[in-house]
Amino acid sequence: MAGSAPTLSQIHAAISGAASAREALQAAMETIASNHPRYEWVGVYVLSGNRLHLEAFAGAPTEHTVIPVGKGVCGTAVATRSNQVIGDVRKLQNYIACSPTVRSEIVVLLWDGGEIVGQIDADSDEVGAFGAADEALLTEIGVLLAPLARQLVQA
Ligand code: SME
Repeated sequence: MAGSAPTLSQIHAAISGAASAREALQAAMETIASNHPRYEWVGVYVLSGNRLHLEAFAGAPTEHTVIPVGKGVCGTAVATRSNQVIGDVRKLQNYIACSPTVRSEIVVLLWDGGEIVGQIDADSDEVGAFGAADEALLTEIGVLLAPLARQLVQA
């Protein structure tokens, strides 16, 4: 149903029919984006060494497919080992713009066995689009996606 947050069972259904970890992550991103109008862009970055690699996304293509730890909102989440909820990206110094229309962003880390294996990143064109409910939802989705992200971590 368009206009409401995706349910965990929708995400589970989307990933369980996929043929590979990458296709499963892609299906999850499309399910989130198509059910949630505030998520103009949503993607999964996988952490290999000290770099985040974009493995799946829904929304406009970005040139920022590799992000070093510490750079931007994405890299800050890894460096500080904490989720990021940014109400207005225009107030940040350490921000990597994927689109000039983005105003708010959320990054939720993917954990597997006590290690960060990646993150879900979402952008909105609205100021303050993301809050505690989004962080809680993406955290629950992240439990399903972390083992898939782990499979894509490069040695
Ligand atoms: N804005 C992010 C970069 C990723 S794009 O939003 C897709 C950042 O500052 O790390």
